[in-house]
Amino acid sequence: MNADAEVMRYYPAVWNRAQSDAFAQQVMQLIDERGWGFWAVEERASGRFIGFVGLHVPSNNLPFSPCVEIGWRLAKSYWSLGYATEAAQTAIVFGFQQLHLKDLVAFTAITNLKSRAVMERLGMRPDTEFDHPQVSLESGLRRHVLYRLRPPL
Ligand SMILES: CC(C)(COP(=O)(O)OP(=O)(O)OC[C@H]1O[C@@H](n2cnc3c(N)ncnc32)[C@H](O)[C@@H]1OP(=O)(O)O)[C@@H](O)C(=O)NCCC(=O)NCCS
Repeated sequence: MNADAEVMRYYPAVWNRAQSDAFAQQVMQLIDERGWGFWAVEERASGRFIGFVGLHVPSNNLPFSPCVEIGWRLAKSYWSLGYATEAAQTAIVFGFQQLHLKDLVAFTAITNLKSRAVMERLGMRPDTEFDHPQVSLESGLRRHVLYRLRPPL
């Protein structure tokens, strides 16, 4: 998944095996520490690993930090089946009901329309645009859009 140029189109580069494994280790360590994080997503019918969806505290000093973000990445063959939205809805319920979050954010490169469509399907509202401090200008991906979701009253 992380070596697929189409999946990684809105990231600075694809990842090699070592980078992908290091990310997985980091994700597992954060789940061990906090009890939550970017969870592995399996397709119910096949039990196959299809990607990750979950909650994360961004490490960057972003204009809207501190915050908890919701994020997702699925292998290409599992796109367009509603799986990202389904998994994200579960993560949102966890964030609001178990963690009692008052706000959830999501952000992506402004041109990442598929990810923005997930945000909109989830009822998230566009908030502001910002330049991601860790994304180079040359990548053409620096301009990001922030979406927010508040818990139901
Ligand atoms: C962003 C990403 C997770 C979106 O995946 P996705 O499959 O398009 O999103 P969803 O799970 O919400 O699926 C919606 C699609 O499934 C279809 N669908 C089928 N059954 C559905 C159902 N029961 N419920 C909802 N949607 C359904 C929808 O019509 C929609 O189709 P469309 O894409 O042709 O319009 C995926 O493109 C991805 O992994 N991209 C690379 C990583 C990335 O950029 N991550 C975000 C970085 S911030």
